[in-house]
Amino acid sequence: MPKIVVIYFSATGTTAKLADAVISGSGEILETAAYRISGEDITAGRFRNEAVLELIDAAEGVVFGSPTYMGGPAAQFKAFADATGDRWSERRWANKVAAGFTTGTCSNGDQTHTLTYFSVLAAQHGMIWCNLDLSGGCDHLDRNRLGTQTGLATQAVDGNLPDADLLTAHYLGKRIASLALRLSPTAAQPGTA
Ligand SMILES: Cc1cc2nc3c(=O)[nH]c(=O)nc-3n(C[C@H](O)[C@H](O)[C@H](O)COP(=O)(O)O)c2cc1C
Repeated sequence: MPKIVVIYFSATGTTAKLADAVISGSGEILETAAYRISGEDITAGRFRNEAVLELIDAAEGVVFGSPTYMGGPAAQFKAFADATGDRWSERRWANKVAAGFTTGTCSNGDQTHTLTYFSVLAAQHGMIWCNLDLSGGCDHLDRNRLGTQTGLATQAVDGNLPDADLLTAHYLGKRIASLALRLSPTAAQPGTA
């Protein structure tokens, strides 16, 4: 079973590119799986894919991803979040590690609000929040370009994500997997760490 799960929504593929970069970083350390939320998962406004929730049940860490829509996560991601209520009451996701990433058209399009939402979702579950420890504006590779320390905020420039944002996503993936391994040393599987 994967130890890190990246759960995200992406309509036009930008967030999906970030998810791929997070997976490549995390996958260097722990087995990682990803799930892209789709419209078919949502019936009458409710997220109803129990298999995805069970995948997270068995993981040590989870990474939340969504484009920023109207200053917050997309409704499709929120539908997923609302479907985790049973896990919340049972404390089933407590002490897992959580992190988050988002993107937007503007350099300051309230992406931080989406990240704040992700961190509050993690707190609701009693998860341990994995922030972004790269100093914004001080990195030789320009990682954490937009200077958000809560998680990864990015901005597509002329429709494309700068390499620095993808490098930051890779870094965040490695960071959460490393933290998950420190908190749960038995998470490592042969050949993954
Ligand atoms: C309904 C809607 C609301 C949006 N709101 C914001 C916003 O508040 N801030 C921002 O910077 N970009 C906003 N955008 C732009 C998206 O975040 C951007 O296009 C993003 O790259 C889409 O991600 P995706 O390619 O993964 O679907 C919005 C886009 C849509 C469709």
